[in-house]
Amino acid sequence: MRRWALGVAVGLGAALLAAGCGTGGAAKGTSDLANGQKLFTGTATCSACHTLAAAGSTGTIGPNLDDAFRGAREQGLSQSTIENVVLDQIRLGSGAVTGGTPMPANLVHGQDAQDVAAYVASVAGTGSATPPPPSQLGTDGKAIFKADCSSCHTLKAAGSTGTVGPNLDQLKPKQATVVHQVTNGGAVMPAFKGKLSPAQIQAVATFVSSSAGK
Ligand code: HEC
Ligand code: HEC
Repeated sequence: MRRWALGVAVGLGAALLAAGCGTGGAAKGTSDLANGQKLFTGTATCSACHTLAAAGSTGTIGPNLDDAFRGAREQGLSQSTIENVVLDQIRLGSGAVTGGTPMPANLVHGQDAQDVAAYVASVAGTGSATPPPPSQLGTDGKAIFKADCSSCHTLKAAGSTGTVGPNLDQLKPKQATVVHQVTNGGAVMPAFKGKLSPAQIQAVATFVSSSAGK
C-alpha cells in the first residue's frame, strides 16, 4: 500500500513535468485552509468518497487519503509536493479503481481547488496509523489527545508536532477554553461533540491545560 501510494505520487510528479504545466501549473501563493476544509466536506464532496481522519470523513469509494500520503510523507516528500499531487488529481479526476465510481475532474476550480489541495496536504497521513475508536480510549486524556489532536497541534507532553492549529505549549489554554473548543470546534478544527463523550472531553481538556508549556 505504502509503496503503491508513493509510486502514484512520483508517477504524477513525472507526468506533471512531462506535461510542462499543461494541467494548470503548480499551486502558488497562499491558501485558505479553513476554506479548503469546508469545501472538502461540503461543496467539493471529497468526503463522500474519501476517508481523511482530520476531516472526520469515512468515504470508501476512493482511496483512504491518510493511507495514500502517509508513506509519501515518511519517504520525505514535502508538503508542497503532496499539495501539487492532490491539485493535479482534482484537475484531472481519474478512472474507477475496479470498475466502480470514477473521480470526477474539476469538482472545484481555481483558488478553491488550491485551498482544498493545501488542506489535504496539511493533514493527510499526519496522524497515528488509525486512531482507535473513542470507546477504547476511556478517559485517558493523553491517549485521547494522541488519537484526536496530535495531527494538528504541537504539545510536548504528548510528543506531538502538528502545525495546522496553534502550538498549545505556547497558547497554554485554560481547561474551560479547551472544553469549549473541543466541544464546538472552530473554523478549521472539527467539533468533537458526539464523537467524544463529555467525560472524555473533560479528560483531554484537563490533560492539555495541565501539561501545556511544561
Ligand atoms: C465520486 C467519488 C470521488 C469524489 C467525489 C472524489 N474522489 Fe478522489 N478519488 C476517487 C477515486 C475512485 C480515486 C482513485 C482513482 C484511481 O486510482 O484511478 C480517487 C483518487 C484520489 C486521489 C489520489 C490518491 C492516491 O492514492 O494517490 C486524491 C489525492 C484524491 N482522490 C483527492 C480528492 C479530493 C481532494 C476530492 C474533492 C475535491 C476528491 N478526491 C473527490 C473518487 C472520488
Ligand atoms: C484538523 C486539525 C485539528 C484537530 C484534529 C484539532 N484541532 Fe484544535 N485547533 C485547530 C485549529 C486550526 C485551531 C485554530 C482555531 C480554529 O480552527 O478556528 C485550533 C484551536 C484549538 C485551541 C485553541 C482555542 C482557543 O480558544 O484559542 C485548542 C485549545 C485546541 N484547538 C485543542 C484541541 C484538542 C484538545 C483537540 C483534540 C480533541 C484538537 N484541538 C483537535 C486544528 C485542529
